[in-house]
Amino acid sequence: MIKLAIIGGTGVYDPKMLDDIRTTVQSTPYGEVTVTIGNYAGEEIAFIPRHGSLHSVPPHLINYRANIMALNILGVKSILATAAVGSLNLDLKPGMFILADQFLDFTKTRRSTFYEGGAEGVIHCDMTVPYCKELRQALTKAGEDLGYSMQNGGTYVCTEGPRFETAAEISMFKQLGGDLVGMTSVPEVCLARELGICYANISIITNHAAGISPHILTHSEVLQVMKDSTCDVRQLMMDSIKYIPEDKKCDCAQILNETGVNK
Ligand code: HPA
Repeated sequence: MIKLAIIGGTGVYDPKMLDDIRTTVQSTPYGEVTVTIGNYAGEEIAFIPRHGSLHSVPPHLINYRANIMALNILGVKSILATAAVGSLNLDLKPGMFILADQFLDFTKTRRSTFYEGGAEGVIHCDMTVPYCKELRQALTKAGEDLGYSMQNGGTYVCTEGPRFETAAEISMFKQLGGDLVGMTSVPEVCLARELGICYANISIITNHAAGISPHILTHSEVLQVMKDSTCDVRQLMMDSIKYIPEDKKCDCAQILNETGVNK
C-alpha cells in the first residue's frame, strides 16, 4: 500500500529523492494518470508532477479530479503538495516556505467536486481548516531541524490563471486577508478532503505579487527562484516523513463519515 504521495508544482517535475523509480498508468473515472512510484527509507511513495513533466498543462486545465482519484485508488492517505506563489506580505520574502492553513477561492472554471449528483450524490464537505494540521506539524519539525525560513500558517489566494494578477486584484486580496497568491491549490485540497486524504501545501515564495513587486512579473523569475529552492523543498518533504504519525488524530478522515467513501 502506498500511503504517501507528493504532488510537485512548478519547478518540481521529477522525484529525484526516490529510489527504484517506476511508472504506472492509473485509470480513474476522470481519465488516466501517469504516477511515478519510488522508495524512500523503506516506504513506497507516489509522485505526480501537477503540470506534467515538461510543464505543459496550465493551472486551469489540470485534471485535478483524475490526479486525486488516482492517488486515492493507490491507497494514499497523505499528500504533500508544493506550489510556487507570489507574496502579498512584505515580511514573507522570496525563498521562504509557507505552509498554508487557509485559502480564498477565486477560481472560475474548475470541476471542484467528486459529487455532482447522480450515483455519487451531493455532499457539502467541511472546509473549516482545509490543510491537515498533523502534516503541517511534521513539516514544521523537519523545517526546524533543517534551519529553514518557514511559517506554519498563511492564507493562500487561488486565482484562475494562467495570467498573473493586476495590482488592483492583489490590493483587494490583501485587504481580504490573503498572504500568498497562486493558481493551483484549489480545488486540489478540496478534492483530497472530500476523500478523507490528509493534504499539506508547501508554498514556495518566488516573488512579491503584482503591484508589490517593483517590476512586472515573469515566469522566468518564478522558475529561477524555484531552481534555487527545489533541493531544499525535496529535503523538507523527505525529512518530514518520520514525523508523520502512524495513528493520525486530525479530522481529515472524519469527512468519510459523511461521504461514505470506502477506503
Ligand atoms: N501570482 C500567481 N501565481 C504565482 C505567482 C503570482 O504572483 N508567483 C508564482 N505563482
